[in-house]
Amino acid sequence: MEQLPYSEKVMDHFKNPRNVGEIPDANGIGNVGNPICGDVMRMYLKIEDSIIVDAKFKTFGCGAAISTSSMVTEMVKGKTIEEALKISNRAVAEALGGLPPVKMHCSVLAEEALRSALADYYKRQSKEPPFELKEHTHPEH
Ligand code: FES
Repeated sequence: MEQLPYSEKVMDHFKNPRNVGEIPDANGIGNVGNPICGDVMRMYLKIEDSIIVDAKFKTFGCGAAISTSSMVTEMVKGKTIEEALKISNRAVAEALGGLPPVKMHCSVLAEEALRSALADYYKRQSKEPPFELKEHTHPEH
């Protein structure tokens, strides 16, 4: 079988994922799943004064899903909600040195988990999130 070209960074975040686990007093929790591959991702955020002070995740999924969850939690820490909303799945994949095209959808899961956790943060304060939650699509599956 032909080997998929995973970058060193992808392999590193897969083998040593950062921020695995739960945040007991998280105030934004996101749950997303890809109905096609069945992979699920849960993201926990701790937000203080609009700044993400901590982020953790639990992912039951493929290696690319684990790597992208790890990377996205690293990327959002210390960022404002506004800055975090600008993080696209492509930015996560780029930060990992790229993903094979057939694995790009795994990075979509990471972006959606982040947005879902942020939406939950607003919901807990009885506020409407100032952004749209995308319907899950899998154009690259
Ligand atoms: S194969 Fe499902 S997220 Fe990667």
